[in-house]
Amino acid sequence: MDFKKAKEIFNSLFQGVDGYQISFQARKKLGFYDRSLTYGEINFDSFYEIIKMINSKKEDVFYDLGSGTGKAVLASHLLFDFKKSIGIEILDNLYEISLSIKEKYEREIKPGLVNEKIMGEIDFVLGDILETDFSEADIVFANSTCFPDEIMNNLEQKLLTLKKGARIITLTNRLKNEAFLLLMSKLYQQNWGQATVNFYVKESAAGGS
Ligand SMILES: C[S@@+](CC[C@H](N)C(=O)[O-])C[C@H]1O[C@@H](n2cnc3c(N)ncnc32)[C@H](O)[C@@H]1O
Repeated sequence: MDFKKAKEIFNSLFQGVDGYQISFQARKKLGFYDRSLTYGEINFDSFYEIIKMINSKKEDVFYDLGSGTGKAVLASHLLFDFKKSIGIEILDNLYEISLSIKEKYEREIKPGLVNEKIMGEIDFVLGDILETDFSEADIVFANSTCFPDEIMNNLEQKLLTLKKGARIITLTNRLKNEAFLLLMSKLYQQNWGQATVNFYVKESAAGGS
């Protein structure tokens, strides 16, 4: 789908959805502070530029680790029509909203997109990225600016289960394991300000050996 149409649909789906407020309420309910749950969202235009930088194909499976209201998942589906676009989110309020946006899209918008021949699936999983299997991913996106070292270290272990050639995009925080080849780091605008985006390719086969 062309960029302009994808952006119009994206804006209509997320109109009036305040992920920051929903996340704030969910975190208040938890009753303790956890930096890794800090909220922030992609900027649609930058996200398009970021995914264009990697060599993506329509057959690719895209995962967003910590998917919030589902913006990166919907954007990847609308802009690139990946085989599957999947988000994993730990906070139930955010997960519920992402599900309702997916349902609204599939009920009200997708049936009208006959000329676009959209084939890709969208899915959201309620769970912890450190405990959910995403080894089928070809592209992993992690808006990881607020993930502390401990989470990044554990996340790296999970990322080692990806296939050779999988592409990984992290925000701000870098990966350390030599199985991940850093292709480039570049500043991009996000909804909250600029962040360094790191692009990796997984070099060795599953298991990292
Ligand atoms: C910075 S936000 C990014 C939202 C979305 N990916 C985007 O870029 O628009 C990070 C999200 O990760 C979620 N999160 C943090 N730790 C997580 C974990 N261990 N498992 C799943 N989600 C997590 C947070 O609740 C938050 O919604």
